[in-house]
Amino acid sequence: MIAIGSDHGGYELKLEVIKHLKDRGIKVKDYGCDSTASCDYPVYAGKVTDAVVSKECELGILICGTGIGMSMAANKVKGIRAALCSDCFSAKATKEHNNANILCMGARTIGPGLALMIVDTFLDTPFSEDERHIRRISMFD
Ligand code: RB5
Repeated sequence: MIAIGSDHGGYELKLEVIKHLKDRGIKVKDYGCDSTASCDYPVYAGKVTDAVVSKECELGILICGTGIGMSMAANKVKGIRAALCSDCFSAKATKEHNNANILCMGARTIGPGLALMIVDTFLDTPFSEDERHIRRISMFD
């Protein structure tokens, strides 16, 4: 199960990502927001990080205007490794090297075509399980 959340700036891209995931047969749980009405992104970052930390969901996706606020808020939470990605190389590398458990994207910085490619790359790339990467990640805590 993938947890997904957005603020108003990311709402429309979130709907496209949800449709894409469902078309791929991937289960997704939407933690809000539910419209383009102005709202506070940390609220939705908190809901998605809770879902990932509690293991209710395996991975999360957070979308706001830039992806920056979401990534800042998400990375305050122990156990969360949120990566703001605007390209597929970063999406692949952050799974392989950082074992990122949340993908953040900016709906105002990338188009929907690229966003869906980034989502696919993130979900389809496994963690390398390399000892040096495990060691570095363990140093976060
Ligand atoms: C909302 O206007 C905007 O600040 C938000 O979506 C995000 O970009 C914050 O980092």
